[in-house]
Amino acid sequence: MKILVVGASGTIGKAVVNELKSEKVEIVTASRSSSEVSVDITSTKSIKQMFEEVGQIDALVSTTGAAHFGLVEEMTPEQNLISVNSKLLGQINLVLLGLEYIRDYGSITLTTGILMDDPLVSAASSAMANGGVRAFVKSAAIELPRGIRINSVSPNVLEESIEKYGSLFVGAEPVKSKSVALAFKKSILGAQTGQSYNVY
Ligand SMILES: NC(=O)c1ccc[n+]([C@@H]2O[C@H](COP(=O)([O-])OP(=O)(O)OC[C@H]3O[C@@H](n4cnc5c(N)ncnc54)[C@H](OP(=O)(O)O)[C@@H]3O)[C@@H](O)[C@H]2O)c1
Repeated sequence: MKILVVGASGTIGKAVVNELKSEKVEIVTASRSSSEVSVDITSTKSIKQMFEEVGQIDALVSTTGAAHFGLVEEMTPEQNLISVNSKLLGQINLVLLGLEYIRDYGSITLTTGILMDDPLVSAASSAMANGGVRAFVKSAAIELPRGIRINSVSPNVLEESIEKYGSLFVGAEPVKSKSVALAFKKSILGAQTGQSYNVY
């Protein structure tokens, strides 16, 4: 089984790659830098080049997608586009452009996040992208061809990331990267489709 992990060098991506290593799978890592394959998910040209380079795969995993954090009252359309172009359309374009490279009965797993269900100040743009991805996954699942499955994983803040997000996640109980990685594993190696796996 050949698995492409986009965002493999990140906190969640590393945990997913580490979790999958115990299985008999071939993992191809991708991100803008420091991965086997270089890709920028905000560029359709770059995504196409990545799939041409990687070729046929059994599982597409996205553990990436940037989002803007800021108050709605102060947010500009341009700032909101960061979330749209990266976390929302970046991940969806991976699906649209990657579908033909996914073998029969393969799978796709995208990343969302708790902010779409548990609002925090400054997180509306991120929540928008998360909700869009979850809705796309639920809807796409009923029409993907050749038995291909699609799910998303919605993590709470990870223990490793709590310092990075500072006071944003006030009162949150961070989750273990292992728990998040197992949700990805369930999506990749399991049988369900159209699901959003909450790791809260
Ligand atoms: N960490 C958390 O607590 C948490 C909780 C809930 C949801 N999430 C979501 O999970 C996703 C990953 O989070 P993370 O904490 O693992 O992030 P991270 O540590 O910052 O890693 C992000 C990964 O994505 C790559 N990347 C960033 N922009 C890219 C682009 N335009 N094209 C291709 N690759 C790109 C990065 O590598 P390069 O910089 O080399 O490209 C890196 O491999 C994000 O969408 C985040 O919102 C995270």
